[in-house]
Amino acid sequence: MPIAETKISIRGLTKQFMVHGRTFDALSEVDLDVCAGEFFCIVGPSGCGKTTLLRIVAGLEESTAGTIKVNSSGGGAKGKADRPVNSMVFQEQSIFPWMTVRDNVAFGLKAQGLSKQSRYEIANAYIEKVGLHGFADALPHQLSGGMKQRVSIARAFATDPEILLMDEPFAALDEQTKLILQDELVDIWEGTQKTVIYVTHSIDEAIVLADRILVMSARPGKIKEIVDVAAVFDRPRHVQTVKSSKEFGGLFGHIWELLRNEVIATETANAGA
Ligand SMILES: Nc1ncnc2c1ncn2[C@@H]1O[C@H](COP(=O)(O)OP(=O)(O)OP(=O)(O)O)[C@@H](O)[C@H]1O
Ligand SMILES: [Mg+2]
Repeated sequence: MPIAETKISIRGLTKQFMVHGRTFDALSEVDLDVCAGEFFCIVGPSGCGKTTLLRIVAGLEESTAGTIKVNSSGGGAKGKADRPVNSMVFQEQSIFPWMTVRDNVAFGLKAQGLSKQSRYEIANAYIEKVGLHGFADALPHQLSGGMKQRVSIARAFATDPEILLMDEPFAALDEQTKLILQDELVDIWEGTQKTVIYVTHSIDEAIVLADRILVMSARPGKIKEIVDVAAVFDRPRHVQTVKSSKEFGGLFGHIWELLRNEVIATETANAGA
């Protein structure tokens, strides 16, 4: 990977939760640098602290110890003084059921002080980009699960954040829809300069999307290894080409080898709890 500017610098990040009067460690001493414009994936067993890590980076949760430094390029250009530093796509569906697709996608733009017409123009462009042509006036209950996740993605990109934090956005979707949305996400992202941190349980998905993959250990989450995918697969990428390549199997095997014992450790801990 070419030497790039560091966008997010995490040092000694530790998070403890209080449960029934006892503290337990969710994250322990995480040190991590994510580069500007990088697509950075995180995989790890359930409960190892992936969502907690994203929520801390997003400022939705406080750390117990450690620091996070975000090298923001700042807003200001073209009247976008309030351009957000980050935007999060959540693990659960998080679009507003009472708002149309257009209003959902335009929602975050209000804070940027744009006129309704400008907000709708931007929203319409992203609605097209995520393949929801003709559904701008639909309500969420009229959409399939895949379409709802498209709305979440359009909403996250529409505010033009510097950093996108995505927490298993496609986990609930069927395999075919997932393949199509992965390709679309790669396409949209390749046309931007955005830094992405993307959490997934799917090793396949991490390989097709990521420049680098962080493999986390079982709780308390620590860094087990960072796998350099960009050294193996160039961009632009197509999901199907990556998946059918001979290098794919080798990478998959390596990551599964790293994860396997962590998943077993989690299962054993849960069984004993
Ligand atoms: N607000 C909270 N209070 C207490 N414990 C919490 C809280 N949020 C998370 N935890 C615990 O911290 C640990 C890490 O949770 P987190 O949601 O970050 O895991 P995860 O890696 O995202 O899991 P999954 O893959 O299942 O989504 C879990 O054991 C969870 O139960
Ligand atoms: Mg999670």
